[in-house]
Amino acid sequence: MAYLAQTKGGQPVLILKEGASRSRGQEARRNNIMAARVIAEVVASTLGPRGMDKMLVTSIGDITITNDGAAILDDIDVEHPAAKMMVEVAKTQDDMVGDGTTTAVVLSGELLRKGEELLEQGIHPTVVVSGYRKAAQKAMDILQKMHITVDLNDKKTLKSVAMTSMGSKAVGMARKHFAEIAIDAVKQIAEKRGDRWIADIDNIQIIKKEGESLEDTELVRGIILDKEVVHAGMPKQVKNAKIALVDTALEVKKTEFDATVKIQDPSQMKAFLDQETNMLKEMVEKIAKKGANVVICQKGIDDMAQHFLAKKGILAIRRAKESDMEKLSRATGGRLTTNLDDLNSKDLGYAEVVAERKIGDDKMVFVEGCKNPRSVSILIHAGLERMVDEAERALHDALSVVADIYEKNKVVAGGGAAEAAIARKLRDYATKIGGREQLAVEAFAESMEIIPSKLAENAGLEKIDVLVELRAAHEKPKGHLMGVDVFTGKIVNMHKKGVIDPSSVKEQAVKSAVESASMILRIDDVISGGKTEAPPTPPGGPGGMPGGYGGMPPGY
Ligand SMILES: Nc1ncnc2c1ncn2[C@@H]1O[C@H](COP(=O)(O)OP(=O)(O)OP(=O)(O)O)[C@@H](O)[C@H]1O
Ligand SMILES: [Mg+2]
Repeated sequence: MAYLAQTKGGQPVLILKEGASRSRGQEARRNNIMAARVIAEVVASTLGPRGMDKMLVTSIGDITITNDGAAILDDIDVEHPAAKMMVEVAKTQDDMVGDGTTTAVVLSGELLRKGEELLEQGIHPTVVVSGYRKAAQKAMDILQKMHITVDLNDKKTLKSVAMTSMGSKAVGMARKHFAEIAIDAVKQIAEKRGDRWIADIDNIQIIKKEGESLEDTELVRGIILDKEVVHAGMPKQVKNAKIALVDTALEVKKTEFDATVKIQDPSQMKAFLDQETNMLKEMVEKIAKKGANVVICQKGIDDMAQHFLAKKGILAIRRAKESDMEKLSRATGGRLTTNLDDLNSKDLGYAEVVAERKIGDDKMVFVEGCKNPRSVSILIHAGLERMVDEAERALHDALSVVADIYEKNKVVAGGGAAEAAIARKLRDYATKIGGREQLAVEAFAESMEIIPSKLAENAGLEKIDVLVELRAAHEKPKGHLMGVDVFTGKIVNMHKKGVIDPSSVKEQAVKSAVESASMILRIDDVISGGKTEAPPTPPGGPGGMPGGYGGMPPGY
């Protein structure tokens, strides 16, 4: 329907395109809030170690079974713009801190539910939003005051953090093993810059393989290349490897212009070919002379060059990925060489062993036993394909939280303890605010309690009883450490129990939840253009980009 307005004279004026629609005021807000809350409800049942998993089936029948908030929302194809915002919340949380995606989304959903109640009581959205913002700011202060500093050498605490993050993932008995691997891996790649630690988990390569069990998952102090040794005559294993990392082709370059070489007799032909062979031989010679016994090349290696390398007992790999070359450099300490004339023995990387191994049906080359590698790999084993994928997600969360602790060494008690403590302090704070904003701060405080409440509900506990008991426990000294033990139903000191989360995960969850809820609450007009028809597919390839939502530019 085209959207029309009328002039004073009653003249209709066409404002929006045919097929456009508009919803305003309460209706728009209600729809948005409902859409966002539906998304929050989808993931809420997965929260905590006793949360359930989701099975997601794509249109072509691919199945994913997961408990990971970010993975669930990434896989479901949502249409409503407000629902899309919730998906962004999960993505941001995942990008920033790697864990707590479900918490962030559930919190946002609850802020919206409580916010809607306030709106229905006639409170203006801007008042709700400003109350929420003040409460979020205060929540950050509260977190700052109650967090506990972790010594990076305190392996026990690091392990607890890693185990807590995997509590809800279906990795069962392997959790301990995974936690140890995550700690070792992050420790290996973390770098100190000034007085800060930087731990970029992109420097940890994860390779998945079906077969054997999760317990066989291993940390490789180096890199695993999804490549084979290039020539059958080469050794399949080199110990004490001195590795040349070459990013130029070991081939004779073709000229960029067309040239004709006239050959008049067979000897000239031979000389011409010999010339090429010699050039290749020289290249290999240059590498061998510097003491390399392994060559990893980012580009191609000519058959003849392969032959010469094999004759010298050098193991070579060609067409390695650029990202792998960077990782190899970080792992082996070698420097990438573009010009073989510049190759120096100091540029060679070192690994105790470089070997081709058969993993499942594929051959892979392991570059391992590097001295103090700044990039490492984890080879995940699991019996089933879906298990391997979920194990990867679990490991991702564990690596993320350990990296979070390296970057900001603060933790808070889990099991809803931190959220309950924030709620309690915010209630006190609300009374100081006064006015209508006070109601919003109180609503924020109550929303925080959705986390312990959902943890209890998902564990089959009576959430009201748990919440009453939890509030009472928080009134006592050290109450801020008390949370829900989902396995016994008791309110216990979560820090003592080893259920701890990085402070940064909680901070980020509150930040993204309040941001998204505020944005949705402030919207009072949704204008959507008519759906643009996708242009017909031209022969030989897919058509242009499909229109953004409702004809808005993509990304709306
Ligand atoms: N043994 C436990 N007892 C009580 N609560 C726990 C326990 N282990 C973990 N938790 C709590 O479970 C919550 C985390 O649950 P979960 O991992 O399912 O969601 P998330 O971290 O918010 O999102 P995701 O992991 O999907 O990104 C945290 O509040 C954490 O403190
Ligand atoms: Mg988690």
